[in-house]
This record gives sequence, C-alpha cells and structure tokens, in this order.
Amino acid sequence: MEKGMGTDTIVSTAAREADGLNAQCAITEPLAPCTIVIFGATGDLTARKLIPALFNLYHQHGLPERFVIVGCGRTRLTDREFRSKLETALPASDSSGPDGWQNFAKRLFYQTIDYDDRLSYVQLADTLKSLDKKNHSGENLIFYLALPPSLYQPVTRRIGQAGLSEENSDGHGWVRLVVEKPFGRDLETAIELDRAIHAYFKEHQIFRIDHYLAKETVQNMLMFRFANSIFEPVWNRRYIEYVSINALETLGVEHRAGYYEQAGVLRDMFQNHMMQLLALIAMEPPARFKAEQVRDERIKIFRSLRPFSTENMADHLVLGQYGSGRIDGKNIQAYREETGVDPGSLTPTFARMKVFLDNWRWQGVPFYLTSGKRLAKKITEISIQFKDVPHSMFRKILGETISANRITLGIYPDEKITLTFQTKQPGARVCLRPVTMNFDYHRNESGPVLEAYEKVLLDCILGDHMLFWRQDGVERCWWFLTPILAACENCEDRGRKLHFYQSGSWGPEEAADIGPGGL
Ligand code: BG6
Repeated sequence: MEKGMGTDTIVSTAAREADGLNAQCAITEPLAPCTIVIFGATGDLTARKLIPALFNLYHQHGLPERFVIVGCGRTRLTDREFRSKLETALPASDSSGPDGWQNFAKRLFYQTIDYDDRLSYVQLADTLKSLDKKNHSGENLIFYLALPPSLYQPVTRRIGQAGLSEENSDGHGWVRLVVEKPFGRDLETAIELDRAIHAYFKEHQIFRIDHYLAKETVQNMLMFRFANSIFEPVWNRRYIEYVSINALETLGVEHRAGYYEQAGVLRDMFQNHMMQLLALIAMEPPARFKAEQVRDERIKIFRSLRPFSTENMADHLVLGQYGSGRIDGKNIQAYREETGVDPGSLTPTFARMKVFLDNWRWQGVPFYLTSGKRLAKKITEISIQFKDVPHSMFRKILGETISANRITLGIYPDEKITLTFQTKQPGARVCLRPVTMNFDYHRNESGPVLEAYEKVLLDCILGDHMLFWRQDGVERCWWFLTPILAACENCEDRGRKLHFYQSGSWGPEEAADIGPGGL
C-alpha cells in the first residue's frame, strides 16, 4: 500500500474521530513537546531512516505540536546546510507537497560536536536551553545514538556528565536514550555496555531498538495468535511438525564492511531480529497487553532456548558466505571482493540454525532459523508446518502422500497470512489438490501505514517500551549465542565449516542437511 494514503491520521483529534475505524486505531493521548537530539546526524542512518521517518510522522500529525530536532555530528555544517543535505536524501516518493519539507525543516538545527569532549556537551546544553526558550519544545529530551557502537559509551558518559540525563523529580522533563543494535558483541561486552549506560540512565529511560519488532505484520503476530480462538489450541508440539523463520536478503554487505566483517550474520541478524521473531511465534499469552508483561513472556522463550553442544554443532548450524553470481540480471561480486573485506575473510553471510525450546508447549519441535545475504529473493516470513494427518483413508485410492497444512505469516514482500490445505480437485476422479487461502494484510484498509522507524520513534515519544529490548533479554540471547560464536570463530577448521554459495542462489546446499523446511 502506498504510504500516506487515506486520511493520514496517527494522533486522534475530535475532528478526525469521524473517520470511524481509522480514528479508532489512532493514538488518543496527547504527545508531549520534546527535543530530539540525533548523534551521528551526518550519517547514513539519519539520512536514510530517521529524518524520513520523522518527516512522515510530522506530515501525518504524528509528532507533538511543539518539537525540534537537533542533529549533532563532527562535520562542520550550518543549520541551512544540514537542512538542504537532508532534503536531498528524502525518498522521491515523498508526497507532502512543496511546503511540507520547508515547514518541517524550520524545526531542524545542527550542532558540530566532538563526541568525547566535555565542552561540546556544555555547548549542547546551552543550545538545548535556548531552543526550548524560543520554540517551547519543553524540557523533554530524546537522545538518539545513530553512531558506531564504539561511541556509545563515551557519548552516554558525556551526556551524563553534562547533567543532561537527569529527569526532574516531578515527572516533567523526561529524558530518553535510544540505542541501536549491536548491544555488545558477546555476553561480556553486552553487560559492560549496559553497566556504562546505567551509570547515567535508568532502565525506564533506555530504548533498545529492534526495527523488526516494529514492522506491522510482526506486531500482528500477537493479534493473530491471541485475538482468535481457533489457532492457539493447535499451536503446540501435538500438531506442529516444525517452524521455519526466514529473513532472506538480496542485498550484500553494502558500505558496511568494517562493521560486518566483525559481526557476521549471527551477530547482525540472529542475536536480535531472528530471536525476536522466534519469541513472538512461540511465547505464551500474557495476562494483559502491557509492555512489561509482553516483555516478560518474550524472555521466557529466550530462557528456554536449549544450548547446543559444540561437539554436534554441524547438526544444528550451517554457515555460508556468498561468492559471485547474478541477481536480477546483474553480476554480483563475491563477499571477499567487496570493498573493505579481507580477501581471505571467513565471516559468514548466511546461517541456518536448528533450535529447540525446552518448555511444555514446544518440546521436540524444531525451529529452523535462516538468514543470509545475496540470496535469490528478499523474503521475510514465518511458516508453521503442521503434522501429517494421523491416518490417510485416501492413501490406498490415491497412492499419494498428502501434504500437511501450513500457515505462513508473510512480512516481506507480501504482508499476508496464508493457510494451505487440501481440497477435492473438481472432476469425476477422486483427486486431491492443495489450495491456499490468502489474507492480504492491507486489504480494505486505508489508514496511514507506519514504517518500522516511524513506529519506534513514536513509541519512544510516548514512552512505550513494548517493542524494545529489555536488558535481560539481550543478555539471555547472548548467553545462548556466545558459546556458539566462540566455537565457530576459534575452531581450527573454521574455513572448512564455511560453505560458499553463489550469489542469487538459496544459500549453500549443506543447509538442507540439518532438516526440512528448506528454501
Ligand atoms: C539490519 C541488519 O538490522 O537489518 C542488516 O544490520 C539487514 O544487515 C537489515 O540488511 C534487514 O532489515 P530489513 O528490514 O530490510 O529486513
């Protein structure tokens, strides 16, 4: 669906309530005035995601009436240069009209900063005070770290030392810190990072982003499971054979070789997005749809992850790296040939992992988690494969195997839910045919669609933690993955365990060895 179609309403007002369903789905609480400070304001994330998201929110009445955005970066820029740099990065599809950007841009300011310099933060505090006086943007502050992770600690320390992380005790003047993944690179560094942030910020002030959680159809998973009574009774080991969670990409490492060489697919996709998808598909219903209760249930899934021993690693994990190939008619170079990548790199760009959850509901059901770059197609989806019928009375007549039911929750490219089942093929002879019932998520819907970054920014302004990571979850996932990473990265035959695949394929053939539900 095209963005901004329909009545463009995110925050409900009396006038907009006449919109019926759309107004019902709009937010009713007023948005408190605030200042959003973006560190890393000249970087890629700010231009590609944050400013377009904030601009769309503004355009759809999803920002407070009084707000300003202060970009901070090392590059020397005036406010005017900063604004025009961001305008050129806006997506061509922007539909806000000629005045749309100009009105929004008036709220954008820029401050040159040396990230680890005390004086820079004294100046920042002055800037914030004077902007507040002029624009009445309130004392509420959001600090967004759109920075390389090595700067998280110095920047939060400097914010804290400048007294900018303190909230007023009367409840006015909240201060929030938004942190992007990666939250550390293993269990130890994740704990250390958290300790450093907690020296100045309290847990309720910290918003750890996972943009997957904010995708519409990912949020919908809980509604689908727990607002319908027909699925839950069969959502368990008695009826489900296995679950596949796929996040397949056609993109390669792009301009992020420096980061990706250190991270690889397990840190980049598994420690965060794949784990959250797993939690949502497998968790128990909380008593109330409240942030802490939902987060409590998600962490119970992380706690039930069965660690796999490093001796039988090959039964549970296949790693790959893309070689050259073709995607969409274009020649693609191998990962090792990408700028900034070591020509002998052993960094995995693909992984397929079989995990089990040791709890009552899921005992014995394998979950296959697959993610990789430079694959044939970009697909993000979860499939629930049901068991075969216990006895087939048709087998003798038809002499064929009957494929079992399957529910697929499509996240990309199609936002959909499909159910595959068997019917009789019309005709004189008794024949079966599998058919698929398809629900397109946006059918008959004209309300504004929030992109993932729009949703997380809005929730941060509202102070809603539902779609953010809590530190106990971060640590538990690292607890599961750290020994696996250590075993992969420190073993002598690391090279032999890495399977090369052609760009544009579905990954290494060996991926099929760990179980069904292949690509
Ligand atoms: C990011 C990863 O978190 O998610 C990227 O760092 C990956 O490597 C991206 O490409 C995928 O997100 P999406 O929303 O395009 O599936």
